[in-house]
Amino acid sequence: MNTLTTNPVGPLLARLFAEAEAASAATEAAVADLSDAERTAMMRSKTAYRDLYGRLSRDPLAVSPETGRLLYMLARSAKARTIVEFGTSFGISTLHLAAALRDNGGGRLIGTEFEPFKVARAQENLAAGGLADLVEIRAGDALQTLRTDLPDTIDLVLLDGATALYADILDLLESRLKPGAVIVADNADFCPDYLDRVRAPAGGYLSLAYGDDVELTVRIG
Ligand SMILES: C[S@@+](CC[C@H](N)C(=O)[O-])C[C@H]1O[C@@H](n2cnc3c(N)ncnc32)[C@H](O)[C@@H]1O
Repeated sequence: MNTLTTNPVGPLLARLFAEAEAASAATEAAVADLSDAERTAMMRSKTAYRDLYGRLSRDPLAVSPETGRLLYMLARSAKARTIVEFGTSFGISTLHLAAALRDNGGGRLIGTEFEPFKVARAQENLAAGGLADLVEIRAGDALQTLRTDLPDTIDLVLLDGATALYADILDLLESRLKPGAVIVADNADFCPDYLDRVRAPAGGYLSLAYGDDVELTVRIG
């Protein structure tokens, strides 16, 4: 028995992933007026992200089912009790991580999301999954909401918000990462300064690209 694949979380995730798949046409339409170059520039910009995510404020933009499963597995194998998530959206990744916390015996997950509609959807989904007691979603820009009241040590981090900010978010969390902490960064190709940092030989991390779009990093310092 595990929380991820059994009722209520298993069927809930199946429905949410199906809805996310069905919403992908709307996601494309929301940015259809932008060229590929303009989209890439927005993904890499430290100022345009509000505009980009404002256009996508009703879209789940969820991790893939494979990445979701990877998150659950990593959180279980790390016996994670404290997790920080940059970019919560509808809470699909959050459900995977919170299910792992439940199966690890409990813990605390801090999520972050600046679109109010998405904060509400994530809270609904976590309640439907019976996991709301493990999760605090901080509404607002994570550059501000992660400045205070963090756990003394952090076992696992998911970076899945505005990609240009990954290194800035790491700045806020780094001193609390315990040795062996895991960082999963989705779409990190759009943040070369983050990749340079976690791949630097003496940077205190070991890191590799995993699959098509994940950078998997372990704190070794
Ligand atoms: C790719 S989606 C996250 C998907 C989510 N992790 C999942 O798998 O279900 C990115 C989300 O991050 C939010 N976001 C982006 N930059 C943010 C920031 N600086 N602070 C808070 N939320 C942010 C966006 O509104 C968007 O909902």
